[in-house]
Amino acid sequence: MSNVVIVGTQWGDEGKGKIVDYFTGYADVVVRFQGGNNAGHTLVVNNKTTILHLVPSGALHPKKVCVIGNGVVVDPKVLVEEIQTLKKAGYLKNPSLLRISHLAHVILPYHRLIDQLREKDKGDGKIGTTGRGIGPCYEDKVARRGIRMADFISSKLFRERLEEILPERNRYIEQVLGGTPFKLEEIFSEYLSLSKALRPYIGSVEENFQQWEKNKKHILFEGAQGTSLDVDHGTYPFVTSSNTVAGYASCGSGLGPTQIDQVVGISKAYTTRVGSGPFPTELKDSMGEYLREKGGEYGATTGRPRRCGWIDLVVIRHAKIVNGLTSLVLTKMDVLSGLKKIKLCTGYRLGGKVIKQIPSTVEDLTKVKPIYEEMNGWEEDLTQVTRWKQLPVRAKKYVERIQDWLEIPLTSISVGPSRQQHIVLKNPFK
Ligand code: GDP
Ligand code: IMO
Ligand code: MG
Repeated sequence: MSNVVIVGTQWGDEGKGKIVDYFTGYADVVVRFQGGNNAGHTLVVNNKTTILHLVPSGALHPKKVCVIGNGVVVDPKVLVEEIQTLKKAGYLKNPSLLRISHLAHVILPYHRLIDQLREKDKGDGKIGTTGRGIGPCYEDKVARRGIRMADFISSKLFRERLEEILPERNRYIEQVLGGTPFKLEEIFSEYLSLSKALRPYIGSVEENFQQWEKNKKHILFEGAQGTSLDVDHGTYPFVTSSNTVAGYASCGSGLGPTQIDQVVGISKAYTTRVGSGPFPTELKDSMGEYLREKGGEYGATTGRPRRCGWIDLVVIRHAKIVNGLTSLVLTKMDVLSGLKKIKLCTGYRLGGKVIKQIPSTVEDLTKVKPIYEEMNGWEEDLTQVTRWKQLPVRAKKYVERIQDWLEIPLTSISVGPSRQQHIVLKNPFK
């Protein structure tokens, strides 16, 4: 038995979906523990692209069990659609293959509206959220006015909770945000069929974990977003509303922290960010444009162009610390082929001082100037490389420099979007 957590080490979209799909081959159960359908995890299997927003990225392995933990916020509309699409494609053949925690909170239409109206109100100061109602749903959870799956699947409790909560949310929408209030009957009748559709999947996931542990199953935890988007450890307030770090795998699933063995961080070979907020190594020139086009850097959830820049080792070092990373996976190495020179950020200059930590305020992080090391690039295409020894010397040097600077071993290197395009250095479950 060994359990592994996978987390993003940058601002999301590091390729977590692809890596989770790959490592599901070594696992029995795959668990999402935070976030919601703000996530967009892309899997390319047998030349077919699947983008998952809520169902864990293990779903394309026919016999593996997928779990949506209590720490996830679930939009029932999106989830039911995703389940239907997967079923049509021959996956998730029965509800025992997808378990959803009875304690997960439900995203309802007023969460989406509040998210969107607030962003509109903020104008240039907006966070650049995905507009999926993620923040407002987590707020309701903490404010103790959320609706959980256990309430949602009982028509009686669902109605009672809506009767309690909606009038206050409607006053907020109308009087503070200038929006149109919701009619309880409309939400109730629309969501009743969704609640029925989800009923067979809902249960006590923490009890399932006990069984899996007893049977020595391997559990893989799939983080969403990235460490710099974590509500505590990220570039606050330009963050998401959940804890994205590995520690939350326990909290957001119901499996105690003593049961977690390895934490694998996923890092892109360069950096991207979607939405607003500071990004020290951002390239606003033709190089940034080049990385966006070559890397296909457009959001898997919203289609927005991603901001691109050089790899920032200060950001990844911070992720190593707050996640307790035991190893790293480097993705999208193939995108860097053909560049004469490649830069790595190894520190920041702030007000005449050199620092190796992320400053605590966004104001300072916006002012820092990255300090770069420059390395020679390589010409060779990497997309067919499957072994370390086949990598060009200069690509090896780039990888080794990252490993040495961060003082962390690599589990694997990804060289293309599909499942096979992978150089595996180590089985993370061993
Ligand atoms: P996630 O949110 O971390 O799962 O990442 P996304 O799916 O949002 O974005 C990663 C994008 O890069 C997707 O389009 C993947 O298909 C693609 N991708 C993943 N790994 C690689 C890789 O090694 N090389 C290339 N070229 N593309 C990759
Ligand atoms: P995956 O799992 C990249 C960003 C949004 C915005 C901020 C807050 O695919 O890596 P939210 O809707 O969560 O309130 O938006 O967080 N964001 C992501 N960026 N990848 C993601 O997920 C993201 N999920 C949220 O763009 O800046
Ligand atoms: Mg994504």
